[in-house]
Amino acid sequence: MCGIVGYTGFQDAYEVVINGLRRLEYRGYDSAGIVLDRENASFDVAKTKGKVDDLVAVSENLSGKSHVGMGHTRWATHGVPSDRNSHPHLSNNGKIALVHNGIIENYDTIKIMLTEKGFTFQSETDTEVLVNLIQFFMDMDASLDFPTAVRFALNEVYGAYAITVMHDDFPGVLVVARLGSPLAIGLGTNEYFIASDASPFVEFTKEAVYLEEGHMATISLEKGVDIRTIKDNEKIVPQVQELKLSLEQIEKGGYEHFMLKEIFEQPKSIHDTLRGRLLVEEGIIKMAGIWDHLDRINKAQKITIIACGTSWHAGLIGEYLIEEFARIPVEVEYASEFRYRNPIITENDVVIAISQSGETADTMAALKMAKDKGAFIYGICNVVDSSIARITDAGSYTHAGPEIGVASTKAFTAQLTVLSLIALKLGKHKGNLSNQEFMRLITELEAIPKKVEEVLEKTHDITKEIAKDFVNAQNFLYLGRGYNFPAALEGALKLKEISYIHAEGYPAAEMKHGPIALIDENMPIVIIAPKQGHYDKIVSNVQEIKARKGKIIALVNKGDTQVSSMADYVIEFPETSECFSPIVASVPLQLLSYYIAVYRGANVDQPRNLAKSVTVE
Ligand code: M6R
Repeated sequence: MCGIVGYTGFQDAYEVVINGLRRLEYRGYDSAGIVLDRENASFDVAKTKGKVDDLVAVSENLSGKSHVGMGHTRWATHGVPSDRNSHPHLSNNGKIALVHNGIIENYDTIKIMLTEKGFTFQSETDTEVLVNLIQFFMDMDASLDFPTAVRFALNEVYGAYAITVMHDDFPGVLVVARLGSPLAIGLGTNEYFIASDASPFVEFTKEAVYLEEGHMATISLEKGVDIRTIKDNEKIVPQVQELKLSLEQIEKGGYEHFMLKEIFEQPKSIHDTLRGRLLVEEGIIKMAGIWDHLDRINKAQKITIIACGTSWHAGLIGEYLIEEFARIPVEVEYASEFRYRNPIITENDVVIAISQSGETADTMAALKMAKDKGAFIYGICNVVDSSIARITDAGSYTHAGPEIGVASTKAFTAQLTVLSLIALKLGKHKGNLSNQEFMRLITELEAIPKKVEEVLEKTHDITKEIAKDFVNAQNFLYLGRGYNFPAALEGALKLKEISYIHAEGYPAAEMKHGPIALIDENMPIVIIAPKQGHYDKIVSNVQEIKARKGKIIALVNKGDTQVSSMADYVIEFPETSECFSPIVASVPLQLLSYYIAVYRGANVDQPRNLAKSVTVE
């Protein structure tokens, strides 16, 4: 999960690449590098540990020098973040430069072979092995052209990759390839762009080709874009797509951080998720993905939801929703576990994959495994045309818009919205929900964007104030029951990801089976206590915490008195049915984490060690 940008055209390649890397920094930000190609000169290379700003500091002199180049922003897999391990990597003869996103799994064996042939290595990376393998093929056969040598090398490696390669003797030519990691080619007028997603070139062109799995392309101003299969060199006709992305969507729009912007976008993103699907006046839910497969899904023996991280938390809420309304047994699995055990999946099963990026390697691998076992595969993705979206049998996009902050916010609430629609649709179709109950629930669901707007307005200042008191906290507990237990898990994940405070989520009733031992006057406990949803039981939990002097931050519905009277801090959110309350309750939890992290001086949008899409294991 690194970011790749490439350019050939008439503009200053340095500017295009650096600006593009800034947009892709969400994909990795422990080091960055750039290489430029000038006719009759060897490559200009600059790379450094650190962020794109650090790269600019060591490379500004390259500005205005070339019209061809590529760059990389890294999330380390092989080798620590360092100048040496940063991309681009050059071949031993200095003629080939390569940037890479992914992992070459058999790099060790190839490295041994190349070392025996006299190659030397400057870095600990798998990438440097690949670039030297290309040189090896060209050394072996002087008549071999550059793209063919790349193809030969790729046929020797296995793993996951998106790469861009340049050769000093082939000025203006960029060779790209993809297996498991995304790569888009922007088609401008007299210029071509390459990037891990379309954001680096959206202001220059709206036409793009998304490279398919197992394909490579040779790109030059003279010959255009020539796409081939990596395996057999078969020519492929490019499928040009029109980009829907706008520049505005990928900029901060006056907010200090993308995360804050994305938190505030939620009334709109949830509305967009519902738009055209929830037709309250007609009393229907219209979802193309589900509609065509209703019988298949409703007859499922079991639904397995696979996901990672925040998407896994959404999956847990999906389990509650689907079991409650559709009465189909649901299991929720970490994709990383599912793929390496021997789960019982048959052709009577439905597997739902949830992924914001649609690129998460574990989720992708788990899906492929379930597909091989004959299950019907349904995807819930945010990124249109992502790898996961493409391999599913059917699916629903979340339509949350680009999410750039590494900590997921609006994608999570959009996932919950889609899961609510699916569960209600299935429940209605199966006859589990009366017309009246269905109408009540969909009317409430329609009101959620307004409630989220209200909660943003009413809790922004208070969460900001509360956050000040917890800047130095070492630990946090998050508790919830029923639908709000996964919301507590998600609240804890948000806090630990961006503030680095240790935080754990628990079902409130489980507290007495262990975590209660941690409670004293120094332990902040966030408890989600809506009116609808085991309120009396929560009251008892709050009393138990109070008796042990824990610091209680209670999320309650407007007008609450009982829990509020015992809490040290109170955050009110609008009442809704229990099944939709995680959507509304998550918003102040996101704000609380955000402000604690900001006051601690953390880099909220690019938390340490994390990256937005995890395209490696
Ligand atoms: O793109 P995905 O939804 O598949 O990503 C899954 C997780 O990597 C992701 O949710 C991660 O936990 C986020 N950093 C959460 O904020």
